[in-house]
Amino acid sequence: MESSRGNGFDIHVPSRMPLSPGRNTDASGKQTDRLGGRVRSLARLLNPWTSHSPVSYYYAIPPCWLCPGKRIPFALYGRSLSGEMVHLLPPHRVYNPVGDGHDRETEPSRVFIRKDSAPDLISYLDSNLDEVVDHPHMDAAGKAEVFYYLAYRRLEAVYRSPGRLVLTDVKQIIALMIEQIITCPETLQQVYELAQKNAGRIAEHPRSTILHSLNVGILSTFFVTTVLAHLPRGIAEEIALAYFFHNIGMMLLPRDVVNHRGDLNDRAWSLIRQHPRWGVEIMGRRYPLTPEMGGIIGGHHERLDGTGYPGALTSHDLHFFVKTCAVMDTLHALISRRSYRGPLPLAEALREVRHRIPQGYDPRIFSQIIRVFREYRLF
Ligand SMILES: [Fe+2]
Repeated sequence: MESSRGNGFDIHVPSRMPLSPGRNTDASGKQTDRLGGRVRSLARLLNPWTSHSPVSYYYAIPPCWLCPGKRIPFALYGRSLSGEMVHLLPPHRVYNPVGDGHDRETEPSRVFIRKDSAPDLISYLDSNLDEVVDHPHMDAAGKAEVFYYLAYRRLEAVYRSPGRLVLTDVKQIIALMIEQIITCPETLQQVYELAQKNAGRIAEHPRSTILHSLNVGILSTFFVTTVLAHLPRGIAEEIALAYFFHNIGMMLLPRDVVNHRGDLNDRAWSLIRQHPRWGVEIMGRRYPLTPEMGGIIGGHHERLDGTGYPGALTSHDLHFFVKTCAVMDTLHALISRRSYRGPLPLAEALREVRHRIPQGYDPRIFSQIIRVFREYRLF
């Protein structure tokens, strides 16, 4: 097959794409545009909660998702001047745009993949997450999107297999989050928007539990690393790990208990009250928990006046990190959709938490959260 250099790629002879069931039609036979289908947004492509129905043939992806010098497991396509789709790079070839790959002049503005390559793309992004997020052309919104949805996927893999609890991938995400996301206010704002938007969407356990844990993990880690700016990185990462897994004990609860729509009976409540302890047991089996980490996982439902569970601890028993998790956990739960109620608006959720001060939550931590989140234009 003839090939030539140009546009930064090995370009095969421009050819019409193998469109099936018919040229420029979708799977239902409906006429589509010259790209062979409606291009999905990046959010739809990465979002684990959307279904990929077969209505389009291609996804447009930004070239900054592709790492120069790396083998790409899927084929890349471009659009010719006449609007036809052309092969840019066959699968399993090294992506090598002219120059160092960081020069916008040598990169195409848009490349396409076939829709059935989406799983390969997601696993490619997951394997090269550090480099993708670090790409100089990646803007804050793109960085947030890749980080947030891949973080969910990694967290979900661990939450759904609590018996195995392999934490390597999540620890890498946490290090990346502290390094790149939390230290960049613009990206943080984009991540916060995604967190807030998604909180109102997913109601059913276990997805809602995993999503909640991700969001509480991000927001609590941002808060403590901001107010404790000199916290050593290693400790910050351990605390973050506990925030991400504060609810892992919920995975041992029967689904019908968590998704129950009416009032819970005594048996259900007694099970729910165990989940912080179960969380400590699950995590403790595979990870050397520090007292602070164990405190966060085991104490996130404790309240200052001793009315919480499972230990009915009081204020002086609870570390700053635990009290922070208690506020963030409640606040985020209130703005989240549940199977038995809709999400509250943020202002109402804040009012609700304020009403429970000082019996339930630490007033100083609550004020600090408001101040810091306003300062970073999150609230
Ligand atoms: Fe909980």
